[in-house]
Amino acid sequence: MASITIRNLDDEVKELLRRLAAENNRSMEEQARVMIRAAVDGQIGPGRIDQIERTLRELTSTHSAATPVAAPAGKILPPGMLSGKRILLIIGGGIAAYKALDLIRRLRERGAAVRVVMTAAAQEFITTLSVGALSADHVYTELFDRNDEHDVGHIRLSREADLLVVAPATADLMAKLANGHANDLASTVLIATDKPVLMAPAMNPRMWAHPATRRNRATLGKDGIGFVGPARGEMAESNEAGEGRMAEPLEIVAAIEALLEAGPKPLAGRKIIVTSGPTHEPIDPVRYIANRSSGKQGHAIAAALARLGADVRLVSGPVSIADPAGVKTIHVERAQEMRDAVEQLLPADAAIFVAAVADWRSENSAGEKIKKVAGEGPPVLRMVENPDILAGVGHHSQRPGLVVGFAAETQDLLRNAEAKLKKKGADFIVANDVSHESGIGPSGVMGGDRNRVRIVSKAGVEEWPEMTKDQVAARLAALIAERLKTTVV
Ligand code: CTP
Repeated sequence: MASITIRNLDDEVKELLRRLAAENNRSMEEQARVMIRAAVDGQIGPGRIDQIERTLRELTSTHSAATPVAAPAGKILPPGMLSGKRILLIIGGGIAAYKALDLIRRLRERGAAVRVVMTAAAQEFITTLSVGALSADHVYTELFDRNDEHDVGHIRLSREADLLVVAPATADLMAKLANGHANDLASTVLIATDKPVLMAPAMNPRMWAHPATRRNRATLGKDGIGFVGPARGEMAESNEAGEGRMAEPLEIVAAIEALLEAGPKPLAGRKIIVTSGPTHEPIDPVRYIANRSSGKQGHAIAAALARLGADVRLVSGPVSIADPAGVKTIHVERAQEMRDAVEQLLPADAAIFVAAVADWRSENSAGEKIKKVAGEGPPVLRMVENPDILAGVGHHSQRPGLVVGFAAETQDLLRNAEAKLKKKGADFIVANDVSHESGIGPSGVMGGDRNRVRIVSKAGVEEWPEMTKDQVAARLAALIAERLKTTVV
């Protein structure tokens, strides 16, 4: 569909659009599209048709989609998801800076106040004039500007915000913050703040993949900086593709809402159990049987459910990633411990089994380290089957209203997933191909950051495109929220 430009609408229509968009958590353009579709389908009563006609006439005027939409200074925006929130947006110098204009607009549509700091490089890509028009505020560019009546100083700038957002976050801005540099307004504000920081990286795929950037990303993650993206795809430079595209403005808005806990909470009051990570089955005190699960997908699902308001109990096997924020995490090692922890958490509204539980354990793990004895050859381990935690809960007298399993397969994905659905008493199975041929590389699904899944249920198979594990988690959490709406527990 052609893009829609909302401009010069009369105040009454604009107000209606703003209100409806905020209520439905849509952009104004999306709201307009929904209304137009509804009008065309005859779903809107005659009383509103003239209003829609007027809207249509305005929307089809010939303004370019890139034309900035200035909110009149001092005008109070209607309450939205981000109503009353103050965002300090730091725009770095990259080709993706143009997307920051749309980001400002979308944040303001949702009721946020947006103050902007631009680096010198950012001003090579977009002007302070358009940024100022969109944010309806002064744009801050200099560290020391004694002549500037608007100069509030970097400390106040960084403190008078609920959240700092860096979009686009260039390799340079990431490096500066990771190493504590403060030699311009953007980097100084970032290091002076006591508020959460969210970065939306954007750079050439080679720059993103460079060991220096990887190091900085890891350091910033450890320092508690939030990240959204980058995504994989075509670069602005011709013939360049890969990971490094800035997340889309609406994805950044969703991450901001999540950080500020401003999004909708359809799972409030729901208790959900999630299992994640591998299990370690001891052979002796120093050796164990394990698998390649990193826990990334399970932890991301736990975090996504918590963002939707659920009371999440995560039962995690041994992983090297952090416990997700806002989630009660129980650490276990062996499958039997995981089963016990899960059963103790019942009853619950839903249980999501993401853990890669070891199917077998050594029947008698030795109390002492098994030693090599000359002439005796290797020890023989007798394996016994571990409890199937999902199947146990799927057929439990206290079975949660919604039970979701995963199926990690290297062959016959759908046939195996369908068999697991029946055998384990799950409502649906999230099936993923963990073979080398999955095309998800270089690290693959297990241990990597991306996933491609199919949702297998009695109703059929739904195929989802390749996404980051965080995106899969967000979509799955939304699906679970939808299913719980109609589940009588
Ligand atoms: N699962 C579980 N307890 C087990 C084994 C698996 O709870 N002992 C759960 C997993 O968390 C996942 C689902 O069952 O949600 C399927 O796991 P998977 O390892 O793919 O299947 P298995 O039943 O182990 O079958 P197989 O290894 O033969 O494919």
